[in-house]
Amino acid sequence: MNRKIALKAQNLHKTFYHPIKASIIRGIDLTVHQGEAVAITGRSGEGKSTLLQLLGALETPCRGVLEIAEQPVTRLNKSKIRNKHIGFIFQFFHLLEDYTALENTLMPACIARRDISKGSEAYQRGQELLEHVGLTERAHFNAKLLSGGEKQRVAIARAFCNDPDIIFADEPSGNLDKETAAQIHTLLLDVARRGNKSIVIVTHDPDLAGLCHSNYILQNGLLI
Ligand SMILES: Nc1ncnc2c1ncn2[C@@H]1O[C@H](COP(=O)(O)OP(=O)(O)OP(=O)(O)O)[C@@H](O)[C@H]1O
Ligand SMILES: [Mg+2]
Repeated sequence: MNRKIALKAQNLHKTFYHPIKASIIRGIDLTVHQGEAVAITGRSGEGKSTLLQLLGALETPCRGVLEIAEQPVTRLNKSKIRNKHIGFIFQFFHLLEDYTALENTLMPACIARRDISKGSEAYQRGQELLEHVGLTERAHFNAKLLSGGEKQRVAIARAFCNDPDIIFADEPSGNLDKETAAQIHTLLLDVARRGNKSIVIVTHDPDLAGLCHSNYILQNGLLI
């Protein structure tokens, strides 16, 4: 059986020119299948966040081709592909602090101009996602009133809001205690598995990497 390809990157390069020239990503090839969990590790400053932003179509490569959900990503279709096929979990959550957990969860639906009013399909899904991450009782709390672990769980729910094909997580538990981190990892992989989603995780945590199907190390701009 041929599994669908969620992501295919060919020969991706990224060089920064300011303040000095630095070739950070130097020819990355990566294929991620539907339902596959991939971990990327590497020393600080090697370019893991940069790579994740390239793979998640948040940054444009200097060279190379990226396909998401079997479509080449171009300057013109990039935001649409991102909104429809990609979920992103940032290291420091990036929640809107004065919006509730549910409103934050529904933000991708709002950007896609879907109906998010009470009773709508999106609203229901938002509630379900918050239930999956154990936050039903916090749904109407403003993000600023939540703990770090709770914020990260909202960020996970938000990443799944538009039912993306692939989720990118940049050190999803980087600033949480070990026990909460382990819970967040299990939860993240569990939500991905339930929906048969692909996931690419950047992590310093060998336990988390060990839970993934494939493991890569980013070194000198290449994946090994
Ligand atoms: N927009 C930018 N302009 C110039 N240099 C940048 C830019 N973004 C990142 N860099 C540089 O690229 C290198 C890689 O940064 P990146 O954040 O990708 O590393 P990382 O592997 O994620 O590190 P960490 O594990 O500490 O998060 C760093 O030296 C950084 O200074
Ligand atoms: Mg980083």
